Parts: sequence; C-alpha cells; structure tokens
Amino acid sequence: MPEIVTITLNPAVDVATSIERVVDTRKLRCSAARRDPGGGGINVARVIQRLGGDCSAFYLAGGATGQMLRRLLDAEAFTGVCIEIAGETRENFSVHEQSTGLEYRFVLPGPTLAAFEWQRCINEVTALKAPPRYLVMSGSLPPGAPADIYAQLARLACAQETRVVLDTSGPALDAALAAGVWLVKPSLNELRDLTGRPLVEEAEWIAAAQDIVRSGHARIVALTLGEQGALLVTADRCLRAAGLPVKVSSSIGAGDSFVGALIWALNRGAGIDEAFRYGMAAASATLLGAGTALCERGEIERLYREISIR
Ligand SMILES: Nc1ncnc2c1ncn2[C@@H]1O[C@H](COP(=O)(O)OP(=O)(O)OP(=O)(O)O)[C@@H](O)[C@H]1O
Ligand SMILES: [Mg+2]
Repeated sequence: MPEIVTITLNPAVDVATSIERVVDTRKLRCSAARRDPGGGGINVARVIQRLGGDCSAFYLAGGATGQMLRRLLDAEAFTGVCIEIAGETRENFSVHEQSTGLEYRFVLPGPTLAAFEWQRCINEVTALKAPPRYLVMSGSLPPGAPADIYAQLARLACAQETRVVLDTSGPALDAALAAGVWLVKPSLNELRDLTGRPLVEEAEWIAAAQDIVRSGHARIVALTLGEQGALLVTADRCLRAAGLPVKVSSSIGAGDSFVGALIWALNRGAGIDEAFRYGMAAASATLLGAGTALCERGEIERLYREISIR
C-alpha cells in the first residue's frame, strides 16, 4: 500500500505556448504547444515519485482529453489509479509573453461530475487495505462535486490516523479546515480570501496562520508567498524562507512541487526545517522549466543547499 496518496478531482492537460506579445483581436500565432499532465494532486505525486517516494495518485478522468492525460502519465512511468468519468477532462492553457516575461493562465471549470462518480473516489480511497500515512487533497473542485467533499475525506482519513494535507481554495478550503486537517498550504491570496482581511504586512500573515493553528483547524500552516518565499507556522515554531532569485520560465506547479517535496521529506522522517527547505527547493526548481515541466531530483538537491531558513 502506498505511504502517500494524493487525490485530484479536477485534473487537466496543461497546454503551454509562448508569443512575443499578447494583444486583442488579431490572430496570435503562438509557438508549438507543449502538453503536460496537470492538476494539484497529480503534480504533487509526480514530484514525490521523482524523488523516489512511495506515492499513488487517485484521479478522475474522462473523454479524449482524459485519455491523453493517461498517455502523458504513462510516458512518465507514473503510478496512479484512474477513476473513469463520463465527462470530458479539461485542458488548461497558458501563454508566456516573451517581451515581458509575463505568463497568462487560462483555467477552465472542468466536467460536471455525477454524484456516484465523486462518491466512488471517496469509497476507493477510504477502502485501501492499509490507510496511507499521508493523504494529500490538492486542487480545485469540478462542477457537481460538493463543497464539503474534502471535509468528508478529511474526517474519514483522520479517523484512520492518516495525516491530511490540504491545498485548495474557496468554499472547499473553508469546509475542510472546519473539519480539521494536519497541514494546510494556502497561498497569500487564499489566506486573504479565507480570513476576509487584506493581510498587508508579514506580522499579519503570521498572526493569521497562528490563528488557524490555535483554533485547531490545522497543526501546520505552510503559507507560500510567490517570489517572497514562504512561511511555516506550527504551535511553537515560525520559520521563514526567502524566495530564491531564480530565472522564472513558468510558475505553474510551483505550489504543488512545494507540497510534494515537503511531504516526501516529512514521510522520510525529516524534521520540519529540513522538509521546509526541500519544499522551497522543489518549488524554485519548478520555476526553471517551461509549462508544467516540474522539477528534477538533481536540481532540487542543488537548490536545497541554497535555501536558508530563519
Ligand atoms: N517569482 C518567483 N520567484 C521566486 N520564487 C517563487 C516565485 N513564484 C513562486 N515561487 C516559489 O514557489 C512557491 C509557491 O509559489 P506560490 O506562492 O505562487 O504558490 P502557488 O500555490 O503556486 O500559488 P497559486 O495557488 O496562487 O497559484 C513559493 O513559496 C516560492 O518558493
Ligand atoms: Mg496553489
């Protein structure tokens, strides 16, 4: 049985291209597209597997794009369990604007799930012969999935003494935190939405993260701050890592790589400082590649040495 399981209810095929400048109305003749598997839990599992970790990804996929997703994953020798759905898996589209270095990310809602489809996902994950040590619930919910689906999974997994890791946004984040998780990884914008406050200064970010821990909604809050790096807050520690000044090709999958390497390290018995450094190193490594290329182990190990934490 895998030690780490991830769940992706709304995966995607990520289509990435580039162009000199993005303008309206005119045809934009882009460079050849690259296609990568996408979706939070799938990316987290890809990173953990590249690091040699024991991880399996449960994901829902359907239609021609769902088949393409499976082909792309097979080509990476990926370990996962695909739950077939009737709807068509989505494609997400990103454009790198060469003249500015800006990235435009177009994200589609995904297929509408039937109740028996999302229910099957819950059943398969909770019926594993041995419960995993970590369950990573990552990514947005597709239409048709109830806002409390991660909350339901969190309650079931907690009862099996699985450590639940959560990376999502909006109502799904609110509901799952109310149920209680082991670790939550909001971005700064997600934390602002969650608290309904502007959270301008670092002291406010820390206080908001400490509130989540104090109220028992999560034991650990890993708050990622884009180019400003990340914070990791527990009941008795507050760690800060600055962002590495790397040349950013694409930020797609940076947050997922952070979660993947962090959980991989914790599962190997690393302390919180070391795991945090691995998360930072993997996120930074992912920025170097185009599209959802994600990070490679050698690059993670190289950047690990450059991360400092206070
Ligand atoms: N421009 C950047 N420069 C340096 N590091 C970055 C940059 N963007 C992201 N990172 C690294 O990637 C990590 C995760 O990025 P980020 O905070 O954007 O999370 P995210 O989950 O990808 O965001 P979102 O969910 O809003 O897309 C950061 O903690 C940081 O280490
Ligand atoms: Mg994110």
